[in-house]
Amino acid sequence: MERTRSRVFPATSVPDEYLALSDEEARRRILAVKRELGRDLVILGHHYQRPEIVALSDYRGDSFGLSKLAANAEARYIVFCGVHFMAESASILCREDQVVVHPNLEAGCPLADSAPADLVEPAWEVLNRVLGEGRLMPVTYMNSYAELKAFVGRNGGAVCTSSNAHRAFQWALEQRERLFFFPDQYLGRNALKRLGRSGLRAVVWNSELFDGGLSREEIESADVFLWDGYCHVHRWFLPEHVDRVRELDPQAIVIVHPECREEVVAKADHAGSTEFMARFVASAPDGAHIAIGTEINMVRRLAMEFPTKRIYPLARSMCPNMFKITLQSLAWTLENLGQVNVVRVEEPVRSQARLALDRMLQLEG
Ligand code: 13P
Ligand code: SF4
Repeated sequence: MERTRSRVFPATSVPDEYLALSDEEARRRILAVKRELGRDLVILGHHYQRPEIVALSDYRGDSFGLSKLAANAEARYIVFCGVHFMAESASILCREDQVVVHPNLEAGCPLADSAPADLVEPAWEVLNRVLGEGRLMPVTYMNSYAELKAFVGRNGGAVCTSSNAHRAFQWALEQRERLFFFPDQYLGRNALKRLGRSGLRAVVWNSELFDGGLSREEIESADVFLWDGYCHVHRWFLPEHVDRVRELDPQAIVIVHPECREEVVAKADHAGSTEFMARFVASAPDGAHIAIGTEINMVRRLAMEFPTKRIYPLARSMCPNMFKITLQSLAWTLENLGQVNVVRVEEPVRSQARLALDRMLQLEG
């Protein structure tokens, strides 16, 4: 069943005068602000952004790389071109005097929406009541909102991203007996497999059923609880898509994101974060055939950047939220820096969420 619950952010809309700008004019105005502000401005662009936004970003990367860049940025203004939770994380990680701006606050993430903290807390209480206090470690994927990161932080847990989920799981299971992971059930299973712990008993917590749809016996015998969220963009890919590529293009290497179903990851040659995929393509030899199971804008951009390699999508799947940031919305936020679309996480959520993010950064050593 598709989720309908969605987090509401203060409504903002790009004024008509900006919507009317041609792409060329918007680009010219963005470059003018970049020139004027110099080192006072840094634009971070996620790999799923439109190619024209990636081209104007100072850095591109996956959620882990961009969060590290935000944590170490010197610029007064950090403009985050990605989805909303990414800008929120930047605001938690950066200095108090820095200003984080997001060019379209309506660019949310349905996966993050699927695990609001006020639904997670009662689930946590049920499990603690059955299992006893102090046995369960919470870990949340970066694709979650600040309140859930804060919940995880104050309960001793960590954030993870697609590039380090298996390491975060290992850390969690060294600290406590069992693990509760939010919100992506597929990343959860893929991370357990990557860790070599598929033998652990993992059950899905169904957030729409009483007690997660689990009996007392099922709770007591489980090692890992997975929230029932998923990314619709990646769930779209099926094992049959991999079979078809193998049949039509036997020399193709198939790489996918670990938010895909386990059966898809199992059939692929490699799985990894968006940065992993970008590097894989960049380092492949000329003439390589690579089918990619991730967001279509990233695949198309890689195909354009590496015309001597045959890069194509495993199937067509697009993230409509990542697509909401346009040259026009970026021009508007840049010409009104600090006045519109400022993302600021207030205390105590900020400090508690920071604990969970810092634990992730420490895991990387
Ligand atoms: P990465 O951390 O791999 O960049 O993934 C973010 C994301 O939203 C994938 O859907
Ligand atoms: Fe969220 Fe999926 Fe879009 Fe990533 S691709 S931002 S997880 S909806």
